[in-house]
Amino acid sequence: MSAQVFEASEIPMSLWDSTHAHGRSGLPNGKLQLPVRLEEAYRQAIDDLGLQDMAGNIDDRDNGPVGDQGEDGAVEHFAKRFSGSCGRIQLYALDPHHTFKTTRNALATLFCAGTVRMLDIPLGAGAGAVALISVVAQLRAEGKPVFPKLNLDVQVVGGDHNPHQIKLAERMFRMLNPWWQEQGINVKLETMVWDVLKDESTSDLVEMWRNGLTGTVVPVIVGTNFSGFLGGPVQAGNSRRWIDEAESCLRQVFSVAAGRRATTLWIEPTDKRATQHFLPKLRKQVFERFSRIIPTDQNNPTSHALISDPIVDQGSFAARASGIHLVSSI
Ligand SMILES: C[S@@+](CC[C@H](N)C(=O)[O-])C[C@H]1O[C@@H](n2cnc3c(N)ncnc32)[C@H](O)[C@@H]1O
Repeated sequence: MSAQVFEASEIPMSLWDSTHAHGRSGLPNGKLQLPVRLEEAYRQAIDDLGLQDMAGNIDDRDNGPVGDQGEDGAVEHFAKRFSGSCGRIQLYALDPHHTFKTTRNALATLFCAGTVRMLDIPLGAGAGAVALISVVAQLRAEGKPVFPKLNLDVQVVGGDHNPHQIKLAERMFRMLNPWWQEQGINVKLETMVWDVLKDESTSDLVEMWRNGLTGTVVPVIVGTNFSGFLGGPVQAGNSRRWIDEAESCLRQVFSVAAGRRATTLWIEPTDKRATQHFLPKLRKQVFERFSRIIPTDQNNPTSHALISDPIVDQGSFAARASGIHLVSSI
């Protein structure tokens, strides 16, 4: 095994307690914890929006609404599953069981210093960028040598079809910005209402991201939890899935990613829709078309871990992650 810049043994207890024995069958020992400041901001947002009752349902943390479901869908996803999305992203990025092998190092090297320009699709309430930036902020707060407090600018370009989701993301970024800044991370969020099924809309979003990729700016794509929609059938009984309809738009995105040799972290749950339908098609119909960006793993490994619930006192649930990490081939 090659040496890692950031070893699993260096993950602080505030994010991962490897000694936690919970005795739950089907889950390895250990427990993840979202960064405390992220938990606090999320609880505050839930209180401010009067969503305490809906958010108290801990049995529903690990799924996702399928598509764009208006204001009600946005609010429901935020109340019930935002923490599940963040947990999945933290599990994939910290990779405490060393399942994905390359993602922990990517976190340390991408988010060290300088300027990162991140295309976050679909933005939802911002779980992708929020979870990654908050984990880095926590590692900086812990004084981890591989996460020095150097100036880091993260420019997030987020696209989502549901404007109510975008508003929730803007709220979370506003709430977390002071803490991120304390840790030397300056974050800017630009958003666009975007439809992954429309070529023109995708071209506008990609243009917005590409326009900021100047000089030494590091290009990153974070794709999270799109399989609930894109892995689903277009019509009951029909083998065609929504990703087949979105193929040309996704190719458009990754054509620019390949040209710019962007790093991609694509993170999904571990259900059939993600691992048997969406991720294999994403690999074959989109990623395999490009030779300048390549996956670090030919399979879709899965990782599972218990995580503390930020809303229910003493509560915990299972976070499950699969995904694809794309890097430049040279
Ligand atoms: C499960 S949520 C994931 C959100 C976020 N990435 C996360 O991890 O929490 C799926 C998102 O896909 C968005 N979406 C659904 N249909 C879409 C479309 N045609 N184009 C772009 N986004 C879409 C929804 O509005 C929703 O925010």
